[in-house]
Amino acid sequence: EKGGYDHFMLKEIFEQPQTIFDSLRGRLDAKQGTLTLGGIRGEYEDMLKNAKRIIMVACGTSWHAGLIAEYVIEELCRIPVEVEYASEFRYRNPVIGEGDVIIAISQSGETADTLVAIEAAKKKGAIILGVCNVVGSSIARLSHAGAYTHAGPEIGVASTKAFTAQLAVLNMIALKIAKDRGTITDQRYQYLLNELDAISDKVATALKLSDSIAAIAAKYKDARDFLYLGRGYNFPVALEGALKLKEISYIHAEGYPAAEMKHGPIALVDEHLPVVFVATKDSYYEKIVSNIQEIKARKGKVIAVVTEGDETIRGLADDVIVVPEADELVAPILSVIPMQLLAYHVGVQKGYDVDKPRNLAKSVTVE
Ligand code: F6R
Repeated sequence: EKGGYDHFMLKEIFEQPQTIFDSLRGRLDAKQGTLTLGGIRGEYEDMLKNAKRIIMVACGTSWHAGLIAEYVIEELCRIPVEVEYASEFRYRNPVIGEGDVIIAISQSGETADTLVAIEAAKKKGAIILGVCNVVGSSIARLSHAGAYTHAGPEIGVASTKAFTAQLAVLNMIALKIAKDRGTITDQRYQYLLNELDAISDKVATALKLSDSIAAIAAKYKDARDFLYLGRGYNFPVALEGALKLKEISYIHAEGYPAAEMKHGPIALVDEHLPVVFVATKDSYYEKIVSNIQEIKARKGKVIAVVTEGDETIRGLADDVIVVPEADELVAPILSVIPMQLLAYHVGVQKGYDVDKPRNLAKSVTVE
């Protein structure tokens, strides 16, 4: 059942080259330069293209996917995006108007907070697009249109393969809107189709790091706290890394935008604090190098996820995890892999049941 893996979580982490491929299959054709999303057609295609605002509504890991999509959609489509915790959105009488499109992101499609939030928004006339994994789930059925993530059943309580599939689908939605609106050049469009098409092979390469990440986990597993830092597209990846560690290893971890560190969290830094930097080569790179120096100056331990060929950070960090190069818009699909593996190995080494962490349920059906 676990396909030879010790845990469902590890199996699902390792399935990702295939599940990402599955979520792109039949939709993205890099050779032809085309993108088709069968579940978003006709009037809904137009509404999305002409959206005045897009609101992502989700919880937990799915909310992190929404945060990344916010950056991608604003960059490519020039439509303002808001990302809302479903529970907060629901209970604060949100302003929803004509031209607003809500994207509800949910692996299970049954998360109560997300479900009631979109029910309420639908009553106010909002258009709902669902990005769900479970076919025929409540959120999928309530949505006007949408795109399934096609990651297959996710058994491990901690979300892994559903997250990367969400990112793949949200990237396709962004590219489609940008193309329809004419906010992307043909050249960049084709380039990003190629980058998305190539990402599952790069994920396969990153998975080979599992043993070396297990060794890093062994070094730091007794730490009391972890800090996770990233900038730009990798900022939500830092949040996701911290969430995974908390869930699976019961170690307190916080994710922050790297630059926010100096506005408070830096007070925590001493020689006992491991700080995980998601620092792949992107337009924020120089800035994050300075943030790493700030941590090292305070004797923090730096574990950095970097791009192949990076020598600067290698010279600064205590441990580096090297992933292939990818465009910054698709890079989170790749840079989250070491986050998942680190949490997994720390949890296993501490002797915990990583498939069923205490106090957590696979789908949260209470508000
Ligand atoms: C994290 C995790 C939870 C879920 C959240 C939303 O590993 O599993 O944070 O992401 O409960 O669940 P869905 O996506 O099913 O709505």
